[in-house]
Amino acid sequence: MSTGFSNREIAVLNRIRSRFLDGSNAGGGYWQNDEELALYDTTFAERIGWKWDAVLRELVARSWAPRSTRVFDFGCGSGVASRRVVEAYPGMREVVLADVSARAMSFAERRMRTDFPAVTVSFAESTPSLPPDTLLVVSHVLNELPAEAHARLMILASQASEILWVEAGTHADSRMLSGVREALRGQFSIVAPCPHSEACGILALENERHWCHFFTSFPSHAAQDARWSQLGRELGIDLRALPYSFLAMQKAELPPRDGARFIGTPVEKNGHFEVLACEACGVCELCAQKRDVPELFKSLRKRTHAPAYRIASEGGKITTAAEL
Ligand SMILES: C[S@@+](CC[C@H](N)C(=O)[O-])C[C@H]1O[C@@H](n2cnc3c(N)ncnc32)[C@H](O)[C@@H]1O
Repeated sequence: MSTGFSNREIAVLNRIRSRFLDGSNAGGGYWQNDEELALYDTTFAERIGWKWDAVLRELVARSWAPRSTRVFDFGCGSGVASRRVVEAYPGMREVVLADVSARAMSFAERRMRTDFPAVTVSFAESTPSLPPDTLLVVSHVLNELPAEAHARLMILASQASEILWVEAGTHADSRMLSGVREALRGQFSIVAPCPHSEACGILALENERHWCHFFTSFPSHAAQDARWSQLGRELGIDLRALPYSFLAMQKAELPPRDGARFIGTPVEKNGHFEVLACEACGVCELCAQKRDVPELFKSLRKRTHAPAYRIASEGGKITTAAEL
């Protein structure tokens, strides 16, 4: 980012944002001109890009990389998700863009060709199917899909070799994504975020108030950029909060895993953290006391806890926790 936003640009960004808030984004295809897409691309989409960075960093740390050489970006918008994926995995040779907005697809195509001239870019057919070796990428689309479009996307997803899917970290969107996981679980192995491929424990009746989500940090370069503070101020939102939900799956089998993952926001209270632990046996609320598990306590406080731990618990209290 460089100089500040003009009043007109702020008005455009407000218009884009209110579409996402008032539900008039339902059905997609709302992009009115290239300026909207360009402004979206350097602001809201860039924030989405930071969430993708966090997901891709985690996958690299797990030594996971897609085997596919083709990306299919469903609901591509300005194309931030496929650009992040192509950047992370240089083996990608082809990107197929799909969106109900032809304007969005053209914008995403131009951006992809500029940033990655060696990658072949094309537009999806109106009723697409996925050839083998395709990585399906979906980003921030679920809450715009009417039931019929959702059902079509699920058919498409079932044809993918691999799936990377990132949604907002809201209760509604995350739980929808958990539903996607459940629908596809029989055909795919779960790479992340779950430490297991069993049923999703968050969907158990007793966990209705919870949702599977994570946070990434606001990048330091953005923290020093006056345009981001102007944007947050003018739009009246905390752009530094970056909650997300995600799903990484592959058709190929994975070796069995176990362990626990702490999801959501650990809450600190008088010398302990209340955490939500996801394990193969389900999702449950546990307490991590400083005196029992000092290392875990420290990393929860610093928000640097690892994606997987082997834990033991007794009477709702974690007694041991070893990073996996
Ligand atoms: C919030 S934007 C997200 C764009 C991009 N994936 C990102 O992460 O920045 C949602 C996009 O999904 C598209 N969309 C909504 N419904 C769709 C559908 N049924 N088929 C294809 N694209 C759809 C919209 O046109 C819009 O470009």
